[in-house]
Amino acid sequence: MDETTDPHGIDKVFCHLPWMHLCAHLDGVYSRCCVDTTGLNTELYLGSNRPTMTLPEDAVGCSPKSTFAADNPDLVMSPAEAFNSAAMRRTRLAMLAGDPVSACRTCYERERLTGDSYRLQMTRQDKPALGVEECRGRTEDDGTVAGFPSFLDLRLGNHCNLRCVMCGVPTSSSLVQRSDDTWLRNSLDPYTDDDTFWQCIEDNIQSIESMYFAGGEPLMLRAHQRLLQLFVDNGRAAEMDLTYATNLTLMPPAVLELWRSFRLVSLEASCDGVGPVFELVRAGGRWADFERNADLVKDQVQLSIHASPQRDNVFNLGEVIDWSLGRGLDVHISNVIREPAELSVRNLPPAEKERAHAYLDTLAGRLTTAGHKMPAADVRGVLRYLLAPPTLTDGLPSASV
Ligand SMILES: C[S@@+](CC[C@H](N)C(=O)[O-])C[C@H]1O[C@@H](n2cnc3c(N)ncnc32)[C@H](O)[C@@H]1O
Ligand code: SF4
Repeated sequence: MDETTDPHGIDKVFCHLPWMHLCAHLDGVYSRCCVDTTGLNTELYLGSNRPTMTLPEDAVGCSPKSTFAADNPDLVMSPAEAFNSAAMRRTRLAMLAGDPVSACRTCYERERLTGDSYRLQMTRQDKPALGVEECRGRTEDDGTVAGFPSFLDLRLGNHCNLRCVMCGVPTSSSLVQRSDDTWLRNSLDPYTDDDTFWQCIEDNIQSIESMYFAGGEPLMLRAHQRLLQLFVDNGRAAEMDLTYATNLTLMPPAVLELWRSFRLVSLEASCDGVGPVFELVRAGGRWADFERNADLVKDQVQLSIHASPQRDNVFNLGEVIDWSLGRGLDVHISNVIREPAELSVRNLPPAEKERAHAYLDTLAGRLTTAGHKMPAADVRGVLRYLLAPPTLTDGLPSASV
């Protein structure tokens, strides 16, 4: 739309997610989506003393077992209450008026710098996204929307068996246990014993169509298995799509069995190298386990491979791509690591950077010649990131974490 057909600039700020989605973070914080800045509060977990855990202004809310619950009693709520919380209602009304929402600034900023964002990616999913007028029609004067989200992003805890070099506190319980720089002592598990969460899911089970899981390691989480069982027991599984970010180093047989009941299960398996490079980056993981599990599940689920390019695997990306294509699996290497800064390929010493430039250039050429357009484009994207001036994407949180 241009200025004449879109006088309020709604297209620049509107996102359909607040009308059909909710994200539940691993520390019990609810947010508009996974890149909503009010849901990402990593810095509060650093240091040896627990600070006052004040939720950011315009935060959606938190669950009763959240690390934020005690310090934000007015914002403790169930997922259904979160979907129509004051912040969500304000967000909808602002978007319909064409006003930007501060919590959504990561998307606006990414679009300004790169032309793409989580907001825009979500409009390119299989199903057509809800349009502005449809959302306006569903919205009451105070911003309330009837019903419950059809799409949930659930990070049900931080329990994880690995200590990946680029991951951190509080995302992986194994890293938390080894860190000298956090006041956290236990794994985060804010939903398993939260009756309001389970009652709310049960009450709204007919509305939920798809769920995205991350963590921690979602396949290890107690609440995850219980949730799948709930959908099976309520006869909903056959109409449900599940997507996972997983390290795929363990594959509980009970989960594999539960998956058989669901319409579609997609695994985005994180794989940051082949053999020793995998074991260097994904510390605590064994390449043999990953390879065995990939072969075990690849005919039962929709499996794709996701590498996050960084200092320790940049010269191994070709092997990850060849390993994946050799098994007929889609491979994505677009989630470049920006933080911690010392792992960013942009901060390689000059000679290594020059070598990485030549390596990626040759790899992109080889993939293009072989007709592998998507991985070739991803490799060119890594190259652009490597060579761009530091202001291009620095300082923006990653969409998938
Ligand atoms: C935090 S993990 C959680 C899910 C699961 N444990 C896994 O490893 O896939 C989700 C994704 O974030 C990526 N990731 C970890 N640390 C990151 C960082 N510092 N920057 C960007 N992505 C990161 C991982 O490689 C993984 O693909
Ligand atoms: S497996 Fe995932 S959650 Fe665990 S340490 Fe690695 S990136 Fe973090």
